[in-house]
Amino acid sequence: MNARSDMIPESEPARQYFYIEKCRQWLEKKKKEKGRDLTCGIFTFGCQMNFHDSEKITAILKQIGYVNTDSEEADFVLYNTCTVRENANERVYGRLGQLKAKKKKNPDSIIALCGCMMQEEHVIDKIRESYGYVDLIFGTHNIYKFAELLYTRFVSERQIIDIWKEAGEIVEDLPTQRKYTFKTGLNIMYGCNNFCSYCIVPYVRGRERSRRPEDIITEAKRLVSDGVKEIMLLGQNVNSYGKNLKPQITFAELLKRVEEIDGIERIRFMTSHPKDLSDELIRTMKESEKICRHIHLPLQSGSSDILRKMNRHYTKEGYLTLIDKLRQAMPDISITTDIIVGFPGETDDDFRETIDVVRKVKFDSAFTFKYSKRTGTPAAAMDNQISDEVMKKRFDELLLAVQEEAYERTKRFCGQVKPVLVEEINAHDPDMVTGRLENNTVVHFNGDKSLIGQIVDVKLSECKGFYYIGEINK
Ligand code: 5AD
Ligand code: SF4
Repeated sequence: MNARSDMIPESEPARQYFYIEKCRQWLEKKKKEKGRDLTCGIFTFGCQMNFHDSEKITAILKQIGYVNTDSEEADFVLYNTCTVRENANERVYGRLGQLKAKKKKNPDSIIALCGCMMQEEHVIDKIRESYGYVDLIFGTHNIYKFAELLYTRFVSERQIIDIWKEAGEIVEDLPTQRKYTFKTGLNIMYGCNNFCSYCIVPYVRGRERSRRPEDIITEAKRLVSDGVKEIMLLGQNVNSYGKNLKPQITFAELLKRVEEIDGIERIRFMTSHPKDLSDELIRTMKESEKICRHIHLPLQSGSSDILRKMNRHYTKEGYLTLIDKLRQAMPDISITTDIIVGFPGETDDDFRETIDVVRKVKFDSAFTFKYSKRTGTPAAAMDNQISDEVMKKRFDELLLAVQEEAYERTKRFCGQVKPVLVEEINAHDPDMVTGRLENNTVVHFNGDKSLIGQIVDVKLSECKGFYYIGEINK
């Protein structure tokens, strides 16, 4: 069963296709021994990037022959982890603890860990010490090698740890599979160069690397021929796309090239950094028929002083000016954001500035976070860390302000007819379907599964806070 080294392709992705086949043969034998199918369960924490990485891993597992399940009793369990905030790490340790008993019941089962948390040395030390029953650990830079690592685990039956400190090559053309057939994410770049002082991402995801536009367009065309109508272009800071490419290309230029692809109906992107949001991008969005009128533009704080300490490279006024420009160009645009409360040294006055921006901008929605100290980041060593009590008080006040404004804003389309991309049967009522407006707002309306994947005109009859109840417009 072992692969003879002279048979193993050296170049990628051929090498991984070779290992996928090896794994498949191995699993076939296991299935015969057990007289049943083998299952896999993938559990993802964190951002869109991680969810998209999980899609890639799921596609490989499927090719190998695993049957996907939602259960942690599966024969192969993977946690794709996030380490942006401490509580995400705690949750992973908690769930790993529970898996120990399951592993005792099914000793053949495989437990794997990947994602940002694995790029931290102290995490790997802790897993080695206290979670010896974890079978396979890999990081953010070598996901493409998953089949090879899994095969190594299959045949060696020891704990496999493979973490790369630096990113290697960008490997194209691996298998992919999608949660929804009609919409998906597409990585346009990896890593981040911004080093916001609170953030661990640049340390665990490495420096910024853009994919070549030709590769992105080829992938987008393939997705469209597979039935995809909506594509979300993914990167930690899409506005700086292309800066490290030769010849250079801007994000707006890339968008125009994606827009030209026949069959794409909606283009989204995530995440934008305010410091790099160009007039060219605003113009491109305004002139586009396909780019959704939605921008996720993390504010983080409304205080220019805190923004400076966060190393964000813009001020409160600068941010508000950007919002004005966006709204002047596209009065309907939805603006969503991320906000952190309790950054070290944040005074009551600083916090008031954040509330002021929330009241002025009226975000369509906002993800709000309590500052979480990440070892190794500059902010972790700053004086005046904020107490839990103050943090909680500010967090509650912020959430209330965000919700009030978001509700007012969401309902602005009430009574209008808008196109909705139908995603699934409603979770609570089988006679209804659930979809999304161009600006990402959820709409529920009467319909059946034949509508899934279609864009239909829906009258938005009633606004229920953050979503609409509608009826199909005949
Ligand atoms: N503490 C709290 N929130 C954080 N984020 C990033 N790092 C931290 C941290 N240390 C938030 C930011 C970012 C989002 C993805 O997570 O708001 O935009
Ligand atoms: Fe983190 Fe800032 Fe990069 Fe976003 S832009 S991933 S917050 S360092």
